[in-house]
Amino acid sequence: MDIARTPATPDGNPEMADAAVEPHAPALIRREDYAPFPWRVAATHLDFDLGLEKTRVEARLTLERNPEAERSPTIRLNGEGIRPLEVRCDGASTSSHTMEGDDLIVTLPGDAHELTLVTEIDPAANSQLMGLFASNGMLCTQCEAEGFRRITFFPDRPDVLSVYTVRMRAPKAEFPVLLANGNCTAEGDDGDHHWAEWHDPWPKPSYLFALVAGDLVARSDSFTTMGGRKVALNIFVRDGDLDRTEHAMESLKRAMAWDEQTFGREYDLDIYNIVAVSDFNMGAMENKGLNVFNTKYVLADIDTATDGDFDAVEGVIAHEYFHNWSGNRVTCRDWFQLSLKEGFTVLRDQLFSQDMGSAPVKRIGDVRVLRSVQFPEDSGPLAHPIRPDSYQEISNFYTATIYNKGAEVIRMMRSMAGEEAFRKGCDLYFERHDGEAATCEDFVTAIEDGAGLDLERFRLWYSQAGTPRVTVALAHEGETATLTLSQEVPPTPGQPDKQPMPIPLRIALFDRDSGTHSGEQLVVLNEASETLRFEGFAAPPVLSVNRGFSAPVRIEREIARDELTFLAASDDDPFARYEAMQDLVVGHLGDVVAGGLAAEEREAGRDAIRTALGAVLADDRIDDQMRGELMMLPGETYLMEQALVADPGAIHNARETLKTWLGRELGEELAGLHERASRAPGTLDPAAQGARKVKTLALTYLAAADPRRASQMAAAQYDGATTMTDRQGALMVLAGLETADRTAKLLDFYNRYRSNDLVIDKWFALQASSLHPQAIEHVKSLRNHGDFTLRNPNRARSLYMAFAGNPQAFHAASGEGYRLIADLILELDPINSQTAARFVPALGRWRRIEPGRAALMRGELERIAGASQLSRDTFEQVSRSLG
Ligand code: PHE
Ligand code: ZN
Repeated sequence: MDIARTPATPDGNPEMADAAVEPHAPALIRREDYAPFPWRVAATHLDFDLGLEKTRVEARLTLERNPEAERSPTIRLNGEGIRPLEVRCDGASTSSHTMEGDDLIVTLPGDAHELTLVTEIDPAANSQLMGLFASNGMLCTQCEAEGFRRITFFPDRPDVLSVYTVRMRAPKAEFPVLLANGNCTAEGDDGDHHWAEWHDPWPKPSYLFALVAGDLVARSDSFTTMGGRKVALNIFVRDGDLDRTEHAMESLKRAMAWDEQTFGREYDLDIYNIVAVSDFNMGAMENKGLNVFNTKYVLADIDTATDGDFDAVEGVIAHEYFHNWSGNRVTCRDWFQLSLKEGFTVLRDQLFSQDMGSAPVKRIGDVRVLRSVQFPEDSGPLAHPIRPDSYQEISNFYTATIYNKGAEVIRMMRSMAGEEAFRKGCDLYFERHDGEAATCEDFVTAIEDGAGLDLERFRLWYSQAGTPRVTVALAHEGETATLTLSQEVPPTPGQPDKQPMPIPLRIALFDRDSGTHSGEQLVVLNEASETLRFEGFAAPPVLSVNRGFSAPVRIEREIARDELTFLAASDDDPFARYEAMQDLVVGHLGDVVAGGLAAEEREAGRDAIRTALGAVLADDRIDDQMRGELMMLPGETYLMEQALVADPGAIHNARETLKTWLGRELGEELAGLHERASRAPGTLDPAAQGARKVKTLALTYLAAADPRRASQMAAAQYDGATTMTDRQGALMVLAGLETADRTAKLLDFYNRYRSNDLVIDKWFALQASSLHPQAIEHVKSLRNHGDFTLRNPNRARSLYMAFAGNPQAFHAASGEGYRLIADLILELDPINSQTAARFVPALGRWRRIEPGRAALMRGELERIAGASQLSRDTFEQVSRSLG
């Protein structure tokens, strides 16, 4: 079924509409319009007769009026692309129903009714991967946010909670495993078919419903909760993938134990099932007791997954598990509250991963993601608060702002409260709202009451979009250091004027001679501008600010280069040390791109970077994981963010030039590091992982400085590799070079892994993201490769997301990169609109790009907007981007 819609002019004015286009834009859904649903669905019975091409669904809803809502003579049941084959009220067929668009309206005279609805669907034809769909011969569901309405008619909104009982019947041979939420209560045989009944005792919204049927095998284990409940754990995969599920299972058990210890949260069912599917729009889904995962976040072994993949599996397994409380037991009142579950759960998974490995390295990585994905969102046409006020298509709001900035906002509350008080606030939140559909406001109030904090002004973080800019100035006179902090929240679409927000900043003042400070402090900047005095400084101290990235803001300050060098070498806060390194490079590259600086000044900046990087390479007080962080040059997206209007070509060249120069200047040190790291074992312990990280980083510098030598080193690394990390790292470097080894190793890699989809995704991605001058040509020919398909989201993203994130190729001055992405969006939109719409933000940044390229980007957006049939997803993103 096709859910593609026909939008009209962005302003929705019928007179303006093109003849070929329907005369209305999709409706805007507003947070302020929230009203409780007039009916309660006490129980939901679902009966599925399953088949790949034809599935019959009978839904029986036990309805009663909601005393807290306005009385209505009808009930509106959402549907999408389905028809009611039968409608029965209290057992008798009824004709008092009508369709209103996709929704079914049934007249209900009394206060309690039982409504039965029959629908029929074709899962095999479902390329949107929402609702019930087929993947590699198995059947599975995805209902968040509004997929349940593609299965049956239902009040498909998160504040309607119901107790579900599910019966499934299917051909035994084709679908030997039948799963749904909760516990299996009965099963049986009926000829060549079999059936199973599952019951979930916990009331839940429809978006948490799940069903899976297929030929699957499981890794099974168990976990005994703190209350002594023995929980059966199963990870279901296709036959042949079982030996790659150990890490996921271990991660799950660690997550269950951690949530008990850290948040006091215990699991509440006898079974926890996870199913891996290869066709999935997102990372994974927290359906009650039956998580459905993208295979990418389940399958891992050392030969096929990188160290980063291992961490991602652990993080996503934990994330979905943590949702059992932050999302499922306490769910969202409406989709404007999405960050209530996502921001909080991201924070919980980040804290978990910090505890499982190196906390500073995890923090630095999280900040890097925030800055390279969320900051651009916040400064562009798609900026929205973590609690949005309106949307057309909710799928477009599964953003870095909702997830990652949402997590930062809660992290700030935690910093201000302190860990213990924060925990009290969380306990109160869970206790107060267990079994309810709550709001962000409920969460803030619970933290206020439980932690004893005043968050009155802090609530602005939920309503104001945009990354605050904090200007920092430090003066010194006599024995007094005077710190002046001022803030400005920039205007964003629909929000021209902003108010100052409380910004918690961890700071320290260093004594230059001793290299120490007398203690870190947390200062909260509440006003537009504030001045703080610190006594007892005979000499001007060096300021370390926003340590640990205590607030998701941009810091602007005049700081002498020698102070940054000092912090890069001696700050005891690892994040601040990383930050000083980044600032050194950002400052220098900014100078180079802006031009006009005297050559000696420029060279002094460059020299400072070489000295700092040299010290990082030699520093034996830090481990290799941290060394790797300090070795990474700031990414081009982040660099582009620094300028009001960026020239991607100039930024790319400046960064590459610096990398080349550093590679030459520090060639021996880098080669020495590569050699030392090559002696580490191919194991998964942190030291070995760290060695692999610095090894490939060293190669990237050397590849810029001395491509021939680096090509040989990379080929040797590839040949000697016993881990995917080493192999992929080497191949990534080779993919950017024009050497014979490039071709040979790419071919070898393909042949070695041709039957492994996830690894072939890597093969596509590393060519699409390569530094090779012909990267665009490569992408065009890979588009026609026999293994390429737009029907599998992982595969589509492996080629095109990697390409959109390759600045030199995507921002080619000819505009060819933009055209490629626009063509993709148009081709993918009718197949999988959710996935297609996720490519729009890459083009949407045109206002912040130099005029020549900006015109080309805008032109492509206009071309998309002019297409005759666009999904609501893509339409919304394109029209907001054109603004
Ligand atoms: N709720 C999922 C998560 O963050 C993400 C998701 C959203 C998955 C929508 C599928 C569809 O854990
Ligand atoms: Zn989530």
